[in-house]
Amino acid sequence: MPKGLTSKAKKSVQSTLQFSSTPVVIKCTKCLMTYSNTSPSDLLQHKQYHDLRLNGKKWSNSWGDVVTRMEPRKGSPCSNYQSDEYIVMISPKKPKEVKATLELLTIVNDELNAPHDENAFWSEINESGGQQGKAFVYIKNNRAVGVITVEYIENTHRGKWMVLETKSIVPKVVPDVKLGISRIWVCRNQRNQKIATRLLESARIKSIYGCVVNKWEMAWSQPSQSGSKLAESYNAVKHGSGKLLIPCYI
Ligand SMILES: CC(C)(COP(=O)(O)OP(=O)(O)OC[C@H]1O[C@@H](n2cnc3c(N)ncnc32)[C@H](O)[C@@H]1OP(=O)(O)O)[C@@H](O)C(=O)NCCC(=O)NCCS
Ligand SMILES: [Zn+2]
Repeated sequence: MPKGLTSKAKKSVQSTLQFSSTPVVIKCTKCLMTYSNTSPSDLLQHKQYHDLRLNGKKWSNSWGDVVTRMEPRKGSPCSNYQSDEYIVMISPKKPKEVKATLELLTIVNDELNAPHDENAFWSEINESGGQQGKAFVYIKNNRAVGVITVEYIENTHRGKWMVLETKSIVPKVVPDVKLGISRIWVCRNQRNQKIATRLLESARIKSIYGCVVNKWEMAWSQPSQSGSKLAESYNAVKHGSGKLLIPCYI
């Protein structure tokens, strides 16, 4: 029996081999990975990728500086919060937490079909000794279950208003946005619990030292379908025409 397989994986290899030795390529409907169900290394890879995408990444409590801790609501037996839920800010000076966050973002970029090389603004220190953005990670039960990366927008011409319904840009109006939301993601099994909303709030309050950014100053970049829904709930504004607009940046 090949080493490193779980008993579940061993069973599926055995039963497949009894009927046919031809590899069968499978696409998992939950994590969307394509793999061969007769290859032990594929099965193991799928198991690890599937777990990351659905449940997040195991996280050491020494990684990141805690910026928000979710306290269970007093007297509420049905609180949504676990007492070990918190948000950390990642320091570019600490290679272990940067590496762990980069691994998490690999899953995010895979899911969004986004470029994998847009991290320097939060993961590196620039020539003048500062950063061009921040990364925040949401930890629940010792797992990183959500992440947001935001970049500082200094050039005021980058802001735009986008009509939510049509995705068209409003001409000639330039909102003075301060933060660009580069990536926001929550693992599949933890969605619809306001985790993304709390990540946005931490980024809004903690990204720029001594400055709380207004919600409308947080701009989206080509929001995905679920990103548009989140933007609608979090920081859309109603135009005089009745249409909903969201702040964007290019
Ligand atoms: C978008 C995403 C980050 C939302 O995370 P989340 O933790 O589930 O979001 P929240 O629970 O904070 O959602 C807040 C509100 O946004 C809206 N919303 C968020 N995602 C939604 C979705 N997929 N469909 C409909 N409404 C949605 C809802 O109004 C929700 O409020 P409600 O729970 O009271 O109905 C998550 O779905 C995700 O990771 N998607 C894949 C990556 C992605 O597309 N990122 C956005 C890139 S722009
Ligand atoms: Zn899967």
